[in-house]
Amino acid sequence: MSSAPQSGPTRKHGGAAPAKHQGGGQPFLSDIQELRRRAREHISQGAVTPGYHADRDTVVKLLNEALATEIVCTLRYKRHYFMAKGIHAEGVAAEFLEHAQDEQQHADQIAARITQLGGEPDFSPDGLATRSHAEYVEGDTLADMIKEDLVAERIAIDSYKEIVLYLAENDPTTRRLMEEILAKEEEHADDLASLLEGMGSH
Ligand SMILES: [Fe+2]
Ligand SMILES: [Fe+2]
Repeated sequence: MSSAPQSGPTRKHGGAAPAKHQGGGQPFLSDIQELRRRAREHISQGAVTPGYHADRDTVVKLLNEALATEIVCTLRYKRHYFMAKGIHAEGVAAEFLEHAQDEQQHADQIAARITQLGGEPDFSPDGLATRSHAEYVEGDTLADMIKEDLVAERIAIDSYKEIVLYLAENDPTTRRLMEEILAKEEEHADDLASLLEGMGSH
């Protein structure tokens, strides 16, 4: 069994808070910073175009990063679903499956919006993990899987919030979509925090 988490799970509604403590020695912190830096870089390229009041290229680029995030999250939850089933953790497995289905739906909604904006959804497996804000981490134990999913949700929450703020009044349709997805990710984070608490693994 791997070591217990060093910091307790986020409490209720804490999923919306920035991820500040993810246990010691985890390698993903710098990656997150790099991914966030890149997301901000794209945001700073924003320019208002006539008619459509956002920079379409920037919005499509941001949406493609969100799409990659959703695909990676779908894959990670699927992996966790089958592994949890294998160790007879049926309740947790059911939660993983439900989340996987939600993330798949988010991916579809984002892809549809990209085409509405005249862009092309990027489903290429090449570079998928790099485009994604969240990471694909398998996790050794059930608690590890839940923790990794919680970290990924918190990353998505932060980056989607930035996208919502960037879109502001310039593209209300995309903003509304991302707000809906953001609310669902916060629900996911809350579910995972409750699961961790229920396991008493901390
Ligand atoms: Fe999602
Ligand atoms: Fe999620």
